[in-house]
Amino acid sequence: MDFHVLTLFPDMVRQGLNTSIIGRAIKDGHITLNTVNIRDFSVNKHNRVDDYPYGGGAGMVIQAEPVYRAWESVAKNSKAIKQGKKPRCIYLTPQGKVFHQTMVEEFAQEEELIFLCGHYEGIDERVLEEVVTDYVSIGDYVLTGGELPAMVMVDAISRMVPGVLANDESGTTESFEGNLLEYPQYSRPEDWMGKKVPAILLSGDHAKVEAWRREQSIKRTMERRPDLLADADLTAKEKAMVEHLLDKSQGKC
Ligand code: ADE
Repeated sequence: MDFHVLTLFPDMVRQGLNTSIIGRAIKDGHITLNTVNIRDFSVNKHNRVDDYPYGGGAGMVIQAEPVYRAWESVAKNSKAIKQGKKPRCIYLTPQGKVFHQTMVEEFAQEEELIFLCGHYEGIDERVLEEVVTDYVSIGDYVLTGGELPAMVMVDAISRMVPGVLANDESGTTESFEGNLLEYPQYSRPEDWMGKKVPAILLSGDHAKVEAWRREQSIKRTMERRPDLLADADLTAKEKAMVEHLLDKSQGKC
C-alpha cells in the first residue's frame, strides 16, 4: 500500500508514523509513506500558500493552485491515472463521514491513497471539487489540522495490510470483529493488588476459555457500546442471553 500525504507539516506526519509497528512496516516495505509539502508548490514569491477569504471572515484559506500542483505531482504517477481513473484522495475534515472499522477495511483494498490535510480555515472549495474523492472526519470535534486524522487513518489502514502485523500482533478476535468489543486481557502476576485473574483463564480448557471470552465480549459491548449490538453477529442463544441481561438490568426479572 502506498500512502501519500499532502500537508504543510510533513515532519509532523513522518515523525508520527516512523516508530513502532508502522515504522517497521515502512522499513520492511509493506507500506510506503510519501509526504508532500504543499508549500513547495507555492506560486507566490514569498512562498505563501494562503490568502484572505473572499467575503471576509476570520482566518486564512489555503489557495487552490499550490494544492492542485501538490496533488498533480503525486497523481500523475499514480496507477489509477494510468488506468484512466481518478486516484482515491481523502480530504480530512470535520465535515466528512465519520471514520470507522468498515471504512478501514474498504480503504485497505486500495493500492494507493492520497491524504489531503487542511489547516487554518480550510482549503479553497474549487480544488477540493477537482481532486477529492472522499471526505472523512475522525470524530465530531475540531482539530487544528488534518495531519493527526491522516496519521490515525494511515495507522488503522496499515494494520489491515498483509505482513504489517506480526502473527502475535494480529488478532481476528479484536474489537469491532462482528461488531463486538474485545474481551478483557490479563497477564502475570496471577494476583495483583489482591485482584485475581479469572480462574477459567488458568484452567487450560480452551473451549471454556473461548466461551468465557465470547460472553465477556458481548457483556462489554452491552455495557460500553450498546449501539453496536443491533448489528452484531450473535447466535440465537446469545441473543436470548442479551435479552435476559437487558431485562435484568431494567428490573424486569
Ligand atoms: N480536521 C479538523 N478536525 C478534524 C476532524 N475531526 N476530522 C478530520 N479532519 C479534521
